[in-house]
Amino acid sequence: MVEETYEKAELEHKKIAENEGLQVEAMPLGSFLDSATAHERIATGFQELDRVFGGGLVPGSLLLLGGEPGIGKSTLLLQLIGNLAKKNQKVLYVSGEESGPQVAARAARLGISKEAPIEFVSTNSMSVLKSAVKKIKPQVLVVDSVQTIADDVLESAAGTVSQVREVTQSCLTLSKGQGITTFLIGHLTKEGSLAGPKLLEHMVDGVFYFEQASNGNFRLLRAQKNRFGATHELAVFEMGTKGLAEILNPSERFLMERAHDAPGNALVAPLEGTRSFLTEVQALTQKCYFGHPARTVQGVDRNRVAVLLAVAEKVLQISFGDSDVFVKVASGAKVEEPASDLAILFAMASAATQKIIPGDWLMLGEVGLSGEVRSVAGLASRLLEAQRVGVRHAVIPSYSLKEVRGETSLELHPVKNIKEAWNLIPHRQNH
Ligand code: TYD
Ligand code: MG
Repeated sequence: MVEETYEKAELEHKKIAENEGLQVEAMPLGSFLDSATAHERIATGFQELDRVFGGGLVPGSLLLLGGEPGIGKSTLLLQLIGNLAKKNQKVLYVSGEESGPQVAARAARLGISKEAPIEFVSTNSMSVLKSAVKKIKPQVLVVDSVQTIADDVLESAAGTVSQVREVTQSCLTLSKGQGITTFLIGHLTKEGSLAGPKLLEHMVDGVFYFEQASNGNFRLLRAQKNRFGATHELAVFEMGTKGLAEILNPSERFLMERAHDAPGNALVAPLEGTRSFLTEVQALTQKCYFGHPARTVQGVDRNRVAVLLAVAEKVLQISFGDSDVFVKVASGAKVEEPASDLAILFAMASAATQKIIPGDWLMLGEVGLSGEVRSVAGLASRLLEAQRVGVRHAVIPSYSLKEVRGETSLELHPVKNIKEAWNLIPHRQNH
């Protein structure tokens, strides 16, 4: 426990303001729509990033980019402002972590021209940051990172709860007052704790998390909160030797290394925000020789796997009682919605029975405890994405048929329960 003192210097101001009787001007809400900046968005030069931000950057917004150290936050934002500088937008990069030469070397590595008009300040002081903003008047500001900047009004060290809150509050005032799009970088520890991102979520306009997919060089940028767009939008990047490159067709990328003709594999089409991408869920079962059978999962929820195993056992009469079950999602993606129930269940059933599910079949549906297949959200966009990557058959909840009939050229197989679905798939026995 560390005691922190928080000075209440503002109290005086407040008293003065109250005595003077502040002039408040209210305006009809609708009139704000006519203001010039209402619809203006700044394109980032990354198509996928624009989509995650809700169609580009909104002037005057305060955005938090969180992620574990070393994930590529500084790289992403440096590339972003590099793109903006190319279009002669005024940008300012404030770093409390790295020196000018360090950041310049990275910029060079990322192919950002030496002449690019990127203003840079290396400081740990909020007052220096403020005066830099005042002098440069940037359109886009990057603060790397919020945990390394300290405001002198507080005595506590940078990175403490009160400092991080104070710095964010000052940045909020800066960006709203002067219409600057501000990115705050925030480090997140493995536990997701820390005086950082979690603490600030309610103060900022958008919270984006940059995460590493558990294998390969894929990085996922996720919108956790976004006042100007849909949440849970996702963009996929790949870290290379020249920085981050966006992956426009994640499905194709994720399916590239697929093991064809193997039992235990099934396609899933998780929906992230408004877009769906296809990946593969894999299951493996193995006889458990002693002790309690293990259920080991990666990228899916353990409890849901347990529920689905119970349903498979009851309804399909496939026994898992004496088997260890392993389930993972390829490419390190996370599959958390109920829409993937059917595919996860069938991957496990396929592993146990060694019946291969054909590679061009997609199964979508939430599975209830009696084995009924329930409807899912966003069915049409999932089917369209599947069609794009060469899927030909889709097993869907029969209730949803009317919603998507005529929307795709896939052969649709409406089902009411998992037994019907399992019998319908043209399995091939693995020998
Ligand atoms: P960085 O942006 O410094 O991470 P963060 O700001 O989130 O802490 O990225 C650091 C990692 O990215 C580092 O391990 C090196 C790697 N990297 C590349 O692989 N290629 C590149 O072109 C760059 C610039 C970094
Ligand atoms: Mg960094």
